[in-house]
Amino acid sequence: MSIFKAILGICETKPLAEAAWERRDGKVTIDLKAAPQLAAKGGGVYLRGKGLTKPVLVVRGDDNKLYAYENSCTHGHRKIDPVPGEGKLKCCSVNHSTFSYDGKPLSGPAKHDIKRYEVRENGGRLEIKIV
Ligand code: FES
Repeated sequence: MSIFKAILGICETKPLAEAAWERRDGKVTIDLKAAPQLAAKGGGVYLRGKGLTKPVLVVRGDDNKLYAYENSCTHGHRKIDPVPGEGKLKCCSVNHSTFSYDGKPLSGPAKHDIKRYEVRENGGRLEIKIV
């Protein structure tokens, strides 16, 4: 990431097309066939709109599991990227706090966990319980 992007808090992770996901009854469902960014380890997308109060980061970890988080660093609320090959997440600020897939802070000024959402794969779809 360039210093210019870090100063402005610009992440590499892009929003997922609205046609690839829906939100209903406190649950977000992603059609994984329509989200190729989540096919590869270390890939990610974020969701915004459709009544979500906070953007949601969705990541396929280096362990090949899917995770979802509130897309907000607990230091200064910048968005977060997965770091492919390093098994962690990184805030898109100049301080770039890092977090484990469990949401625990690993390095940098963030001292609190990022919020995780429960996920479940179900027949080519990923369900995320937003609470
Ligand atoms: S906003 Fe993430 S380290 Fe400051």
